[in-house]
Amino acid sequence: MIAKTEEDFNGLKEIGKICGAIRDELVHCTKPGITTKELDEIARGSFEKAGAHSAPKGEYDFPGYTCISINEEVAHGIPGARVIQEGDLVNIDVSGSKNGYFADTGISFVVGNGEIILQKICDVAKEAFDAGLKKAKPGSKKSALGKVVHNVAKRHGLTVIKNLTGHGVGSSIHEAPEHIFNYYSRWDDEILKEGMVIAFEPFISTLEEEVFQSEDGWTFLTDESFVAQYEHTIILTKDGPIITTL
Ligand code: CO
Ligand code: CO
Repeated sequence: MIAKTEEDFNGLKEIGKICGAIRDELVHCTKPGITTKELDEIARGSFEKAGAHSAPKGEYDFPGYTCISINEEVAHGIPGARVIQEGDLVNIDVSGSKNGYFADTGISFVVGNGEIILQKICDVAKEAFDAGLKKAKPGSKKSALGKVVHNVAKRHGLTVIKNLTGHGVGSSIHEAPEHIFNYYSRWDDEILKEGMVIAFEPFISTLEEEVFQSEDGWTFLTDESFVAQYEHTIILTKDGPIITTL
């Protein structure tokens, strides 16, 4: 959406804060021995308490309130009986709505002590996000974000996932602009606009550049790579980006 009124900005900030707080709460509660279903239950309670709704549940009938993906799972992992282990790479993605406004945020992190490469891809995903954020301004090309994300990955000897992208958000969970790529697409000549609300989410990969869908119809997987994501909802303004989900 294009945020125009004070009501828009306030509504976006409110749901952004709620989703950001639920994300942080789930990260804090992620310890070896807990199941992804138990984490999701915490999110259910927090959405309810905040008077907000889970977006995957409400919009897509996803079998969970949040998406929790572990190791070979990259995104849209279904909360269930899977027990979190020391050293796991975990991604928690929280998106929700309140009063018609939406936000989307996610983070990958390592549980306790894990392989060094796992922490590295998490750090590089954040670095790619920060680099892209500098290009996130009205009047800039949307493709500039993907260009810097890919460049940051390459500089660290890593790559990006090309078939998962950021997206417009705000009045629904996925809306125009449809794709914010993690690489430079020369056919993407869209210009970012004042007030535009986007979910910017670099996916940094150790090797593979595409994910495939699991037989469960939801989870995106890799074969032999690890992938880290870092996502926030941002309102683009001439005075700089406003991150609603901090
Ligand atoms: Co997300
Ligand atoms: Co998203």
